[in-house]
Parts: sequence; C-alpha cells; structure tokens
Amino acid sequence: MAESSCQVLLVSDAHLGLGKTEHLEQLQKLRQWIDQASCNPSALIVTGDLSDHGADDQADLKFAKTQLESLGLPAYFIPGNHDLGNKMGCEDPISAPRLERWLDVFDSDRFTLVCGDWTLIGLDTQIMGSGFDREQEQWIWLDEQLEIAQSDGRNVAMCLHMPPYLRQKDEWFDGPSDYWTVAPQPRAELLKRLDHASVKLIVNGHAHWHWIGQYHQVPWIWMLPLYPLIVDDPNYPRESAGPQIGGAMMFDLKNADPSYERIDLEPEPHRINWPHTH
Ligand SMILES: [Fe+2]
Repeated sequence: MAESSCQVLLVSDAHLGLGKTEHLEQLQKLRQWIDQASCNPSALIVTGDLSDHGADDQADLKFAKTQLESLGLPAYFIPGNHDLGNKMGCEDPISAPRLERWLDVFDSDRFTLVCGDWTLIGLDTQIMGSGFDREQEQWIWLDEQLEIAQSDGRNVAMCLHMPPYLRQKDEWFDGPSDYWTVAPQPRAELLKRLDHASVKLIVNGHAHWHWIGQYHQVPWIWMLPLYPLIVDDPNYPRESAGPQIGGAMMFDLKNADPSYERIDLEPEPHRINWPHTH
C-alpha cells in the first residue's frame, strides 16, 4: 500500500486583536517562514487563544480568524480561554452569550479533519465541566468520531487548548495552577477517550510552555505559543521541556509515526513566573 502522509501547520496562542501590532508581526514572520520553506501543508490547525479579548469582543474573534485564514490554508479552529472564557469555577468563566458569540463566527467549537492515514479531532476544552448541553453533545460526538476513525483504520491526533493535567492524572491544585488544566471530573471523561487505541498523538496549547512528553506511550506535545510570551509555573513538567521561544510547529503525519518540526520565531520571548502579580 502506498504511504499516505499529511502535513499540517499547528499554531497556538497567537493572542491577536485589533491594535495589537506586536502580535500581528509574529504572524507575518510565520507567513515569511512558510513562503521560504519548501513545505506544502494541507491545513492550518489553531489550538485556541487565537484572540486576546475575543471572549468579550466579537470583533477580535473575527479579526483573528481573518488574519489566520490569510495564511491561505484551510483552517480549523478550537477556542481557548481568551476566546471563550475560563473553565467553569474559575474567574471570568465561559458563559452562554460567549459561546454564542464564538459559534456565530466559527459555526463550531470542534472539528474533524481526515488527512492521509490520520483523523485530527479538535475539542472545545473550555466547555468541559460547564454543564451546558453542548458539553454532553461533544462527548457523544467524540465517541462517534473515534469509532469512525477506528473502523476506517485511521490514527487519531487529538487537538486541545487546555492540557488534561500538568504532571499527574489525579492532581488537583487549590491555587493559581488550577488555571491550566481541565477540571478533575471532565478530565476523567477526557482521559477515557485519550485511552482509545486509535489515539496516537495529543497536542495542546494554553500553557505557553513547550514540552514534549508522553501520555502512556502516546506522544503528547505542549505547543509553543505564537505570541512570544513564556509562562513558567513550578508545577509544569520540566524534563523534556523547551527551548522556550515563540513560534509554531509543522507536523508530518505518516502511518502511525508522527514527526514534527519546531518553527522558532524571533524575538526573544517575554517571560513571566506563575502566579504573576500584574
Ligand atoms: Fe494563551
């Protein structure tokens, strides 16, 4: 059988918005990199926080979408906390009007993309634990997508904004680090699906901390942010972390063996320690 591969460009945490010139410059640098590189990705995957204030300002959501689509690739988006609000129970949470604003611009907060031997599935992690009808619908939809991928013999790449956890499956933070992960109850639901035999790659954004690890034996990659803001939380996994720089990633999905290239973009990133005080 001929090898069938799929090349996709992954971007996370661009934090674009009207008047945010520095943020937009990063996207221009990525555009230049794509123009100069001898690559021809099939799609752009955006793992959340494409906007900086989109959760409250639909104009920022539209602006971020337009800018990212101007890269000229079929684009697939999932929301992050800056686009849709934090998880329920945190400050500034998701709400029905915020979800409506997102859906008004993007039509959906999840996606499936079949590419080569792979199915890429994008999930809305912000809705997990919200109790909204759409949360339950997403689990049902996800189970169907996993079943279809398995019966078609495809590998699944799961694309998320929030990581399910930082270092331990059963961890729970009574403090600022709680900001980063899916809450324990929906996390159990998510991990059940990540345990599915077809899942061969997991990617998330949100942390602004580049890490390449494993979930069981499956490669698990925390995206470097496009906007060069690096956050350092002492609870993050540190082994196999970094280098910490702004940029994007190109994934080459071939058979069950994903390979990837980091796209490092100047300048030197800003850095903050978590919890930050301003
Ligand atoms: Fe972000």
